[in-house]
Amino acid sequence: MPRVYVTRHLHFSAAHRLHCDQLNDQQNQTVYGLCNNPLGHGHNYELEVTVVGEPDPVTGMVIDLKKLKDIVEKELISKVDHKHLNHEVAFMRGLVPTAENIVVAFWQILKDKFEPCRLYELKLYETPRNMAVYRGE
Ligand code: NI
Repeated sequence: MPRVYVTRHLHFSAAHRLHCDQLNDQQNQTVYGLCNNPLGHGHNYELEVTVVGEPDPVTGMVIDLKKLKDIVEKELISKVDHKHLNHEVAFMRGLVPTAENIVVAFWQILKDKFEPCRLYELKLYETPRNMAVYRGE
């Protein structure tokens, strides 16, 4: 059977502050620049969730993308949308909320949710020009 990759695009807005406790204030300012602003700032994040599987012989679908969307919204988007990632999201506690750390944390939440399909890739756009990709490696 052919293996096919299907992707759903989702959106959320959240605030964060990039600040690492292992660096002093001057170092944080140098490393993170504007993103170190003490009271935080916001982004309109875009998330692409790609799963891989074999099209069902009857429905022709790898996964019902409406079902995939509902799962991601329930398990993930509802926990981060319009939240401050440093203060309000339990699974982000203790992590510097860079796009890299966020996408890895998202993977842990979503990785087992699409049986019998397999989560293949998460692509997180922090801005239209900056994104992080994670494939669970
Ligand atoms: Ni930022």
